[in-house]
Amino acid sequence: MSELKRTRIVDLFAPGMAGKEVSVKGWVRTRRGNKHVQFVALNDGSTIKNIQIVFDLSKFSEDDLKGITTGSSLHVVGILVESMGKGQSVEIQAQSFEIYGAADVESYPLQKKGHSLEFLREIAHLRPRTNTFGAVLRVRSALAYAIHRFFQERGFYYLNTPLITASDCEGAGAMFQVTTMDLNNLPRTEDGAIDYACDFFGKPTALTVSGQLEGELGATALGAIYTFGPTFRAENSNTPRHLAEFWMVEPEVAFNDITDNMDLAEDFVKYCIRYALDNCRDDIEFLAEHYDKDLIERLNFVINNDFVRLTYTEGVEILKASGKKFEFPVEWGIDLQSEHERYLVEQHFKRPVILTDYPKDIKAFYMKLNDDGKTVRAMDVLFPNIGEIIGGSEREESYDKLLTRIEELNIPMKDMWWYLDTRRFGTVPHSGFGLGFERLVLFVTGMTNIRDVIPFPRTPNNAEF
Ligand code: 4AD
Ligand code: MG
Repeated sequence: MSELKRTRIVDLFAPGMAGKEVSVKGWVRTRRGNKHVQFVALNDGSTIKNIQIVFDLSKFSEDDLKGITTGSSLHVVGILVESMGKGQSVEIQAQSFEIYGAADVESYPLQKKGHSLEFLREIAHLRPRTNTFGAVLRVRSALAYAIHRFFQERGFYYLNTPLITASDCEGAGAMFQVTTMDLNNLPRTEDGAIDYACDFFGKPTALTVSGQLEGELGATALGAIYTFGPTFRAENSNTPRHLAEFWMVEPEVAFNDITDNMDLAEDFVKYCIRYALDNCRDDIEFLAEHYDKDLIERLNFVINNDFVRLTYTEGVEILKASGKKFEFPVEWGIDLQSEHERYLVEQHFKRPVILTDYPKDIKAFYMKLNDDGKTVRAMDVLFPNIGEIIGGSEREESYDKLLTRIEELNIPMKDMWWYLDTRRFGTVPHSGFGLGFERLVLFVTGMTNIRDVIPFPRTPNNAEF
């Protein structure tokens, strides 16, 4: 084979490429043709578009080509020419080729087009080779880049917080324990309890549910930080919006109050959505066409309109006055369900909503108490089709009030002394929030199940691949 340097398929479609000799490598999507000519659609993951390779059967025999089957991997050298066929601007007239790896026609599962998303979840190791998952994964990657760009452009520092922790940030108790002890032969103390002094860290530890507490340590030193990493929740919620392992983005900013925090959240999600629209047009158009006709309109609507801001109490009044029968009845004090959030966003206001000042009893211990003594300076950003996409708050900066809350909730002090130190030494007002990355990817791709926007989803009873 020629030594010509490989061109990615996405770059073949650039202006001025036609007429050149090119070398491409990728996986065969389809092959069709007749006795005179064979057409192979090749994809290398760089774009939703396939390049058509034309094999002239006066130069190649049927026998030469027989290993070119759906799923096989191929290296082709040929001339890029303008295409006369419908649906593509250029194609390659093959001069030579080699097959890297064959794919057995009987057992390669992606033979036909249009497999269900449920079926593709069962073959998550191969689904990145489909158009849909190629598009979703490219959009996911672009959004991750946009997140870093947004914060780096604004002077935030990227802080890496620990994944193994001894504290429970959200206080929900839904943590995965981490241990090296032999579960069939646990060391016991004299009174029969498990002896964690014998465990790896000398105490009980778990995978983190959020990097926020350590994020606050960073923000009260560096001014503004963001984390972006995996978080883990052992909640047994089998819904289209929950994962046991998901990625969270958590900015935290010293001297920001709740209004600054809302402004930051709104600018941030709009920036990410705009970045995807500007940089992933082909993929988003493909997803819109196949899954969600209103997708692009919805994305544009969100970036071009202000989010509505109102308090939880006002939200509850609207829900009660709506006359709508909800599965979970609405009363001041309840934790809003997805049906309530979506009613406010999709039916009442018809745009994203930021709800603030929730009852303290349904929110985490670190949120700043309002003067009414009943509500805290929390904010949730609610999106169409998704419900809660962001949760955050202004933090309680008073040492005494924070300590009272920790005691009221029986949070073990021995795990929290280092966090309380931020309030003992130069405490400042500060705020932050967490964006569920997969929920953002769901929104931007128009997919409806969170299992379809992460390469290898972790959900109850599912840790395959
Ligand atoms: O609202 P949450 O629980 O807030 C926190 O963890 C705060 N410590 C964040 C902060 O203030 N720094 O989670 C934040 C977001 C949610 O709004 C949601 O988008 C997402 O994380 N999320 C999940 N995404 C997928 N699967 C789950 N099980 C999720 N739980 C929360
Ligand atoms: Mg929340």
